[in-house]
Amino acid sequence: MQVSARRARGATAERSDTPLQFVVHGRRPALVGLAFTAFAGGIAEALFLVTVTRAAFAITDRKGRVGIVADRYLSVHQTLLLALGLVLLRVALAAWSSVQSANLTANVIADVRHRLSSAFLDSSWEIQQAQRAGSLQELLTTYSGQTSAIMQSLSLAVLASANLVALLGLSIAVDPVGALVLVLSVGILGALLRPLRAVVRRRGALVSAAGMEFATSLNEVSELGLELHVFHVQDQARRRVGTLIEEFRVKVARFQIAAGLATPIYVGLAYLALLGALAVVAESKVTSLTSLGAVMLVMLRSLSYGQALQGSYTSMAGSIPAIEVLQTQLQLFSDGKRHDGGVAVSEIGELRVENVSFSYVAGQEVLHDISFAVDPHEIVGIVGPSGGGKSTLVQLLLGLRDPQRGRILVGERDISELDKTEWARKVTFVPQTAHLIAGSIADNIRFLRDDVSHADVERAARLAHLHDDIMGFPEGYDRPVGEHGGHLSGGQQQRLCIARALVESPEMMILDEPTSALDVRSEHLVRTTLLGLKDRMTVIVIAHRLSTLDICDRIMVIQSGEMIGYDTPERLAATSDFFREALELSGLR
Ligand SMILES: Nc1ncnc2c1ncn2[C@@H]1O[C@H](COP(=O)(O)OP(=O)(O)OP(=O)(O)O)[C@@H](O)[C@H]1O
Ligand SMILES: [Mg+2]
Repeated sequence: MQVSARRARGATAERSDTPLQFVVHGRRPALVGLAFTAFAGGIAEALFLVTVTRAAFAITDRKGRVGIVADRYLSVHQTLLLALGLVLLRVALAAWSSVQSANLTANVIADVRHRLSSAFLDSSWEIQQAQRAGSLQELLTTYSGQTSAIMQSLSLAVLASANLVALLGLSIAVDPVGALVLVLSVGILGALLRPLRAVVRRRGALVSAAGMEFATSLNEVSELGLELHVFHVQDQARRRVGTLIEEFRVKVARFQIAAGLATPIYVGLAYLALLGALAVVAESKVTSLTSLGAVMLVMLRSLSYGQALQGSYTSMAGSIPAIEVLQTQLQLFSDGKRHDGGVAVSEIGELRVENVSFSYVAGQEVLHDISFAVDPHEIVGIVGPSGGGKSTLVQLLLGLRDPQRGRILVGERDISELDKTEWARKVTFVPQTAHLIAGSIADNIRFLRDDVSHADVERAARLAHLHDDIMGFPEGYDRPVGEHGGHLSGGQQQRLCIARALVESPEMMILDEPTSALDVRSEHLVRTTLLGLKDRMTVIVIAHRLSTLDICDRIMVIQSGEMIGYDTPERLAATSDFFREALELSGLR
């Protein structure tokens, strides 16, 4: 209870973070350090400007001494040396700021990538499966890249503000009236550009949405290589991609125009402000020529820092929509965190499904009130028309989704209470389509589980009747499988997936149509494998091919989300119309 309350508070805190807080995330001390360095640099620069103007006037007046503070004087040489020292200090501080800012930017982008990828990997299958293909890549590349853009702008804004404050302090000391004008003009300029920043932000949001659409559609096209050729629709695909590129271009251009307008507008206004300030300072009559020169220099510099400040503001406004998307996604992944019951799993033994119902969309049940039990070391086949709910049932048995009603029990424990890692070791899965990773055959059988030995890999390959095929390759287990398993046949890939599932000696293996894409010989090999496993583990196999089903002890018929039969093949042939019809169609009976 306490834990969930804390989690809820944490989640709310994350949700209520502003985009800037989200990006800064624990790096405030670094940012403050940067501000201090910049402030010190700004003071050094301002002092340099004043010293130089005072020295210039002293030189032209041939005074030989320069007034620095109150009634303290330095010789021209001493003043020039002081100015040189200030320049060196300024350069050192600026260089230090650049290094800090570069590190900050790189760290922030890596940080967001860590947070997002971890949250994604920790989220449930339900959440992951609902993501559009290619969207995670886009979030981790372009969108996360925007955090570095924000951080860069933020560092620039901090630098510019710190410098502005330093210059302002100085101009207050030199000429309070000039300083007032300076504050007013920078403030008014910022306010005048506010509506433009709102436009930039709106257009930034459109660019960000169009970018995601573009990336995911492109991902779809790149996955469709074979179908595009077979259906000869490359021209149509090109047109679709072309339209997306154009739509994206228009949005980017509109965004760039708004963002680009900010600088010329600012510069124009800044020069007007400068003229105004000159007029005010001239009218105030309290200013000596020396301090007037210094004020003008300081003002020019201030206005250019003001320009940097508003430039970074505008570019932040453009990047913020992408950050908001990152925040929403991160929240979605954290809210959908995979639940781990944590209870140790003893032996699996009997598996009992009690009154289970499940729906993907509220009110539309795809499984209704299913109950059955599977004995240890039994081979159970699941058959039924397409869309009946077989794969959904398997996802529930694997603990990938939770039923809305009913329970799935191992011993007396609901499987949702169990430790996920142990459960995944004891209950494995062979999907319908093989997903291979870049690497060797051994890497693919091991599948990221580093503690699996080569002996285990070979034992699993033998069980899956893949070992002889592998020994036929010159590189053996080191043979690279290439992208999308390019160097292995469909049957070999399927058997590799079986070996992958067997490598940690599970107690139960679930297969979703493992033979549907296989030739007769490969299918025969898979059947032999399953039969060979009979004494070692429980097997649940979805199969359309009824020839796979004659090795099953019991067969379950799932139709329109209902379990309409669960019996031995012989008895089912007598009682289930669907099963009898299917047997007749496949020519087996
Ligand atoms: N991720 C999902 N979101 C929403 N509905 C889904 C999802 N996956 C499946 N469905 C729906 O649930 C129902 C059952 O699908 P399921 O994949 O379990 O059927 P199946 O029996 O495995 O079919 P097949 O033999 O064709 O593989 C179908 O109506 C399907 O449209
Ligand atoms: Mg299915």
